[in-house]
Amino acid sequence: MSRIAYVNGRYVPHRSAAVHIDDRGYQFSDGVYEVIAVHNGGLVDEQGHMVRLERSLNELEIAWPIYPSALGGIIRQVVRRNHVRDGIVYLQITRGVAPRNHAFPDHSDSALVITARRGTPFNADQARRGVEVITIPEIRWKRRDIKTISLLGNCLGKEQAVRAGAYEAWFVGDDGLVTEGTSSNAWIVDSAGVLRTRHANTDILNGITRISVLQIARDLGLKFIEEPFSVAEAKAAREAFVTSTTSFVKPVVKIDGEVIADGKPGQLAARLLAEYGHHMNRQTADAK
Ligand code: PDD
Repeated sequence: MSRIAYVNGRYVPHRSAAVHIDDRGYQFSDGVYEVIAVHNGGLVDEQGHMVRLERSLNELEIAWPIYPSALGGIIRQVVRRNHVRDGIVYLQITRGVAPRNHAFPDHSDSALVITARRGTPFNADQARRGVEVITIPEIRWKRRDIKTISLLGNCLGKEQAVRAGAYEAWFVGDDGLVTEGTSSNAWIVDSAGVLRTRHANTDILNGITRISVLQIARDLGLKFIEEPFSVAEAKAAREAFVTSTTSFVKPVVKIDGEVIADGKPGQLAARLLAEYGHHMNRQTADAK
């Protein structure tokens, strides 16, 4: 089956989908994106992703390429045309095509690309497998709250993780505190048993999965705090895990080669993962 991409108003074969070489996304990483999970044919946390997308656009003063109300229909069309039942939708908006000058062009039509890709269906048993993370210096810019396509620091970090045989790398600021992963948010259950993840300001991307997991914790009446933690605290924690659209709730069993607690995926992470699975099921129950 050949894949179909949406590019500025047209549905085109994925293999020949292209944008102009003067697109500011290509020239300057001048654009934003979202990754939305497709589960049982439905979109997970669509509203949250749309709110964050609008915020990213506003922060960079990039205009909506289409009426925002039309976006959901196009996303669903891309999902359908690619026969994706479980997987992801990737959506990218750049400032568009303009002669190369750093300052914003007087006129440019922002450009919209949407693709969808199949992935393995959510499987709580599979997802419960523990992974390793490494820690690396935080080298990125100071507006990590914007979901920009400018991801070089993240790519360098993930490559380091891969070369170390790890699943993810956690960025650590000059203050010794963990900010987030290269493509996920970082969590621990601290030595006092309290669930902890960094508060959302400009230091991290406020993950949509993070927001959902915090809501689940609230609903379950779990003790949690939104506060940063150090690498030492993470290594001494009862549990650690990461959250993201593509990783769901993923237990971390080793940090920089050091085993966390008994080296097995934690119970709270397993519970949050199971609840997150229910959360996805509820939202996508009536998707076709
Ligand atoms: N990444 N932090 C960073 C730097 C991220 O890139 C991501 C997601 C997250 C988690 O956000 P969410 O829960 O909304 O997926 C946190 C996506 C999956 C990616 O770039 O592919």
